[in-house]
Amino acid sequence: MPKALPGPLSLRPVREGDLPLLYEMQLDEEARRLAAFVSEETRDGAAFVAKHRKILADPAITFRGVEVAGELVGSAAVFPIEQDIELAYWVRRDLWGRGVATAAVAALLKEVTARPVHARVVADNPGSVRVLERNGFVRIGSEDSYADGRGATVTELVLRLDDPR
Ligand SMILES: CC(C)(COP(=O)(O)OP(=O)(O)OC[C@H]1O[C@@H](n2cnc3c(N)ncnc32)[C@H](O)[C@@H]1OP(=O)(O)O)[C@@H](O)C(=O)NCCC(=O)NCCS
Repeated sequence: MPKALPGPLSLRPVREGDLPLLYEMQLDEEARRLAAFVSEETRDGAAFVAKHRKILADPAITFRGVEVAGELVGSAAVFPIEQDIELAYWVRRDLWGRGVATAAVAALLKEVTARPVHARVVADNPGSVRVLERNGFVRIGSEDSYADGRGATVTELVLRLDDPR
């Protein structure tokens, strides 16, 4: 059953003025642990802003702010990596478990129609796996690699969304 969202959800392009809020959200330690593939340099505000200015300037990246009732509460992005395109998202911690990421990913995948889309999730981030599977992604494999957010090698699940047949 889809959850009742905490308010009406919409996506909009991220603006430079959003970066301080997005920076604060990604400092949350439990979020960093779950996401795992976060670079240590993004603990530094100036480094975070510099990295995201490049993202904002890159026409190949679709980077959207997630708003609930008009308030910025997260982000979702589709970006090219090697031959693939990948999906990533982040939601402010006090709103977890209320369907925000599931709905934001659904909205982004309506806007970005290219397929397949890949996503990578640490195997012990079950909420994120659920978000993807609810949006039609299927598991296609796994890889072990080093994750800064854990300071350890972790198993990452690889998921893919194809065109519906
Ligand atoms: C992962 C993340 C985006 C999920 O956001 P969210 O808004 O809470 O997601 P939703 O509420 O839409 O869905 C989460 C689902 O996972 C489930 N879930 C959450 N924690 C869980 C857990 N520990 N075990 C099993 N299921 C879990 C929820 O019940 C929900 O499923 P349901 O709707 O069937 O009940 C959020 O935790 C986050 O921003 N984490 C930090 C960044 C990150 O991990 N990004 C993803 C990197 S791949």
